[in-house]
Amino acid sequence: MRAIEEADRIVVGRLVLELWGAHTSVAHGQVFFPASLPGFLVEQQNQVIGLLTYTTYDSFMEIVTIDALRRGRGVGTSLVEAAVHRARQLGCSRVRLTTTNDNLDALRFYQRRGFRLTALRPDAVREARRLKPEIPSVGDYGIHITDELDLERWLTPR
Ligand SMILES: CC(C)(COP(=O)(O)OP(=O)(O)OC[C@H]1O[C@@H](n2cnc3c(N)ncnc32)[C@H](O)[C@@H]1OP(=O)(O)O)[C@@H](O)C(=O)NCCC(=O)NCCS
Repeated sequence: MRAIEEADRIVVGRLVLELWGAHTSVAHGQVFFPASLPGFLVEQQNQVIGLLTYTTYDSFMEIVTIDALRRGRGVGTSLVEAAVHRARQLGCSRVRLTTTNDNLDALRFYQRRGFRLTALRPDAVREARRLKPEIPSVGDYGIHITDELDLERWLTPR
């Protein structure tokens, strides 16, 4: 696990394109360019097996993308914990993120890691598709991707 460095930008850009179908990520009406953001990489034998990007504003850290290229082996958990640790260092009081209604695995994953649901925006993905036409119409488990959900984890000072 290490922080993304400038020399990683091309690799990160390629991964984001491969994993998310475009160089952009859209949430709550905002367009992000993950390859230009700070974040963390998990590597195993010189291969990237995990990637998290984030941005910060006010007292929030927002996780923009999180991907485990090998699932169910603790990669996602270690990425979240690295982000939480960094958020504390930066003096943030909350870590937030947005996901979509089809992403049942992520909803389970985040809630098991202390995140609470804070908002549901029915049909928000219709607007997101105007900003990022690459968003597919059908997502995980054959569920139509229609709504955005926000989750937040409050950080207690240590
Ligand atoms: C969400 C995500 C990052 C989680 O990463 P991960 O490395 O699989 O997570 P972990 O291994 O740390 O934990 C996954 C949980 O599922 C369990 N699990 C077991 N087998 C699994 C499998 N084949 N796939 C996924 N999870 C599995 C783990 O035991 C763990 O259970 P717990 O919550 O009870 O502890 C990953 O599923 C992912 O990359 N999803 C695609 C991208 C995505 O949707 N990102 C979120 C966008 S908002």
